[in-house]
Amino acid sequence: MPDSLLNDAFFAQMDSSIGDINDAESLPPGCYTDPEFFEFEKEAIFNREWLCVGRESWAKEPGAYFTTSHVGEPLIVARTHSGELKALSAVCQHRAMLVAEGHGKVRSFLCPYHHWAYGLDGQLIGAPAMDKACNFDIKSIRLPALKVETWQGFVFVNFDQAAAPLAPRLTALDAALAPYDLAHADGPEFAEVSQFPIVQKYAWNWKVQYENSNDGYHANRLHHGPIHDMCPSDLASFPEMPADTAGYVRYNGTLDRDVGFNATRHAVLPVFPGLTEEDRRRFVFVNVPPTLSIFARVDYVSYSIFRADGPEAMTHQRAWLVAPGAMRLPMFRELQGMTAAGSLLIGQQDRHVDAAVQQGLRSRFAPRGRYSWQEGAQSSFNQWLVARYRAAWVRGSAASEAGN
Ligand code: FES
Ligand SMILES: [Fe+2]
Repeated sequence: MPDSLLNDAFFAQMDSSIGDINDAESLPPGCYTDPEFFEFEKEAIFNREWLCVGRESWAKEPGAYFTTSHVGEPLIVARTHSGELKALSAVCQHRAMLVAEGHGKVRSFLCPYHHWAYGLDGQLIGAPAMDKACNFDIKSIRLPALKVETWQGFVFVNFDQAAAPLAPRLTALDAALAPYDLAHADGPEFAEVSQFPIVQKYAWNWKVQYENSNDGYHANRLHHGPIHDMCPSDLASFPEMPADTAGYVRYNGTLDRDVGFNATRHAVLPVFPGLTEEDRRRFVFVNVPPTLSIFARVDYVSYSIFRADGPEAMTHQRAWLVAPGAMRLPMFRELQGMTAAGSLLIGQQDRHVDAAVQQGLRSRFAPRGRYSWQEGAQSSFNQWLVARYRAAWVRGSAASEAGN
């Protein structure tokens, strides 16, 4: 049996990943491949951080719900009759059937297996033929609830009931996104963005894809060509973030005003009305680790939700937002198709890289590589990760000492 990766020396060697970008090197490759590290990472990151599950508009009306999962936990996001948004485990508290799948609109959730019924707040309200069960109190049974919060129209959930609120730690991102007013932007319904190919499963670690989204260095190298060259890597910039930030912003200047990723090289959809002249000459990249990545262009904001499924498995959901009213344009679908088609090759290049990087990270020759200044966002991400890894390692060590 191979030795465990997890020891004090392993966490100590992360020091070299969290300094200034020009000194730093990448994290140990085992962080991207090792099954034991992934189990550790669940505790360090996914059980404690705010995880994006989608858009508030996907559960707009009372009774509307949609489902998703994070780290293998099936989840329901539902709007109660009083208009409150709830995040619940989808696992029936009878024999673990999923009480809801997909999306819909209901008065209550009826588990299909034996018809236990739950209110939209998760409370068990009906359980047929349980009258002979001893000490069975219907009022004491409910679908476990997660904390829920919305930010910029996105819904986040947290398994940790003691988690600090998210939004106060995203003020730097609010400033960057204010011109787009994403809470009021138009976008697709859940049904349109909940199936393949919008949702895809990939055989790589979630950080491989996060880092690809976080990387301006490769922009006009991997993606070299007439469309992407409008956004050269040497126009990347990385604004200073507050120390307690829960997310990151980077900008990339464009060679022209109102650039679009399509054959015309210009925006073809209505430009977001609040943009300044400066905004019209740059792209905004916003990342809220570990699950949300936003790429704002002048007429089209695409976003990715990352769901970690295993050490080398993840689910990726990619959707979009446009200026209010844009979806009512008679040619909206054609124009959106142009925009999406322009990004298709770029996406294929990125996915090829993700798969090959995962293969490289498994190699005995996998490096702890050095960074270019154009990868400034990677050292911010490393700092975010390592602080949480170390806190979890210290907590775990203290708990095992107390147990000895
Ligand atoms: S598993 Fe849900 S009612 Fe039996
Ligand atoms: Fe890319």
